Amino acid sequence: MQELRIGIIISTTREGRFADTPTRWLLQHFEMFPETSANVLDLRDFPMPFFEEQASPAYAPPNCADARKWAARVAEMDGFVFVTAEYNRSIPGVLKNALDYAYHEFNRKPAAFLGYGGVGAARAVEQLRLICVELQLTPLRNAVHIGMEQYLAVASGNRGLEEFDFLAASATSMIQDLVWWTRALRAARQGEAGRHEQA
Ligand SMILES: Cc1cc2nc3c(=O)[nH]c(=O)nc-3n(C[C@H](O)[C@H](O)[C@H](O)COP(=O)(O)O)c2cc1C
Repeated sequence: MQELRIGIIISTTREGRFADTPTRWLLQHFEMFPETSANVLDLRDFPMPFFEEQASPAYAPPNCADARKWAARVAEMDGFVFVTAEYNRSIPGVLKNALDYAYHEFNRKPAAFLGYGGVGAARAVEQLRLICVELQLTPLRNAVHIGMEQYLAVASGNRGLEEFDFLAASATSMIQDLVWWTRALRAARQGEAGRHEQA
């Protein structure tokens, strides 16, 4: 059976970002799920300008070469985890910009979330779930929230994420949920493609 290709989207790009720490930790959890292959999609590798295309990618592919590269990488994935901070109670602008640059490549795939910061970036994650609806992504319930106390302990170098059992438990249930939905939606997409070929 083909592996489930999961895109781990790193949603901040500033120098010295915290994002790399939870991403490394999450990748270790994915190793316990051999039915998945986890692929890091780092927004630093897709330096897109503020959206300036003539039309939404729902209607026309972008002209920007980095945006095309980004959309092609998204298209290769079966499901996603957004690793995100909260910037002013919302998602980082660079993530919103990247989401505006793709559309069909996200459609009918599941999205899970790992947030970090005050209240575990819950406010940003809730907004991200709404954006997912418009992109026809399926936003999932189970998520990882690294709250302020753990964030500060880890960012200051005093503790490691692996020391928090409740975070490990939430990563496991998030990935289990993601595996189920990724498998279900991939089978549904493939079934639909097969029906179109027969027609
Ligand atoms: C512009 C900006 C706005 C922020 N706003 C919030 C916020 O609303 N809520 C919060 O919990 N943390 C906020 N923070 C603090 C971030 O949680 C913290 O800086 C985190 O490390 C950012 O993620 P990054 O290191 O991957 O960029 C903000 C940080 C920045 C740079």
